[in-house]
Amino acid sequence: MNVNGQHFRTIWLKPDDPTVVQIIDQRPLPHEFVIEDLTTVPEMAAAIQEMHVRGAGLIGAAAGYGMYLAALNAPRTSVADFGAAVELAGEQLKATRPTAVNLAWGVQRQLDVMAAAGDDVESKIEAALREAQVIADEDAEWCRRIGEHGVSLIEAVSRSKPGEPVNILTHCNAGWLAFVDYGSATAPIYAAHDRGIPVHVWVDETRPRNQGARLTAWELNEHGVPHTVIADNVGGHLMQHGLVDIVITGTDRTTYTGDVGNKIGTYLKALAARDNNVPFYVALPSSTFDWEMRDGVGEIPIEQRDGTEVKYISGWADDQRCTVLLTPADSPAANYAFDVTPARLVTGLITERGICAASEEGVLGLYPEQRKEG
Ligand code: MRU
Repeated sequence: MNVNGQHFRTIWLKPDDPTVVQIIDQRPLPHEFVIEDLTTVPEMAAAIQEMHVRGAGLIGAAAGYGMYLAALNAPRTSVADFGAAVELAGEQLKATRPTAVNLAWGVQRQLDVMAAAGDDVESKIEAALREAQVIADEDAEWCRRIGEHGVSLIEAVSRSKPGEPVNILTHCNAGWLAFVDYGSATAPIYAAHDRGIPVHVWVDETRPRNQGARLTAWELNEHGVPHTVIADNVGGHLMQHGLVDIVITGTDRTTYTGDVGNKIGTYLKALAARDNNVPFYVALPSSTFDWEMRDGVGEIPIEQRDGTEVKYISGWADDQRCTVLLTPADSPAANYAFDVTPARLVTGLITERGICAASEEGVLGLYPEQRKEG
């Protein structure tokens, strides 16, 4: 995607030094654009945990590159020592954020690839490097395809109201910043905009970290997509008054039965959408399905982050970043970072293979290789 007219991905290898992974540090956005160098697993783990990088697909790609850094820094004394070190690094990376399934998926993919590579450390390092790039390229391509499939939904609404913009509501940031490129929820929006279909996006601010107000709004602005930032509680009112044609969100983990784990507040938007007959779609690459989990509400681990994220708010004043206290200093705050929207409230899932019902038959119909025997 473009930043000031220059194409960027969210994670890449430093062109003149492939031992360095570079990322866009998302914390200072939209006010400052900062590129950060990472060379060790603890640095990558901190970048994931403290949300320099965030979002389902990008966390998966960060896991891929993090495991490559693990391989580069692992002892070369023996294959056994090397293997033990990369296993440990995988555990460290997986412990950073519990809800997004892409993290464990990216780590496991690298462990499998390294185990299958030639019986010497150098081959394993080369394999980890190649796989990190494959994971990143695949993520970008899957998101591009999500855009190709999802645009049909926006086109259909547009045909029903010629000349008027299609109003799309989204929550959090499931844009290109949350992936390697394109985004999941935003991919159909960018595809529609680029085809000349008039769209307008309602951007939920997404307290407490304001990924909508800071990141989605910045992305849409850079791409020239008309949008309006709204407080998190506005969506229901807009839906009651016919001002939302379709909701499209991302997800951090979706069960093979169609229950959707996503940023806190998504469930309430799905309830409001159902009450107002507004279609509620979720866009995801297959790397975000949990093929083992049946009951999302009961089983998806919900990350609880530090209460300071609720009590303080960060912004830009006097040409610098600043953070201010919102609440009484002594008030305790709870910070549940995700919730689960049951499949029955989800109109459909937009994947790289097409659009399906949020149900076991729908999902396994698109991904038959995931059917379990018996
Ligand atoms: O806590 P975050 O910002 O990493 O949350 C993840 C998300 O970006 C959202 O939940 C998003 O809607 C799904 S991931 C594309």
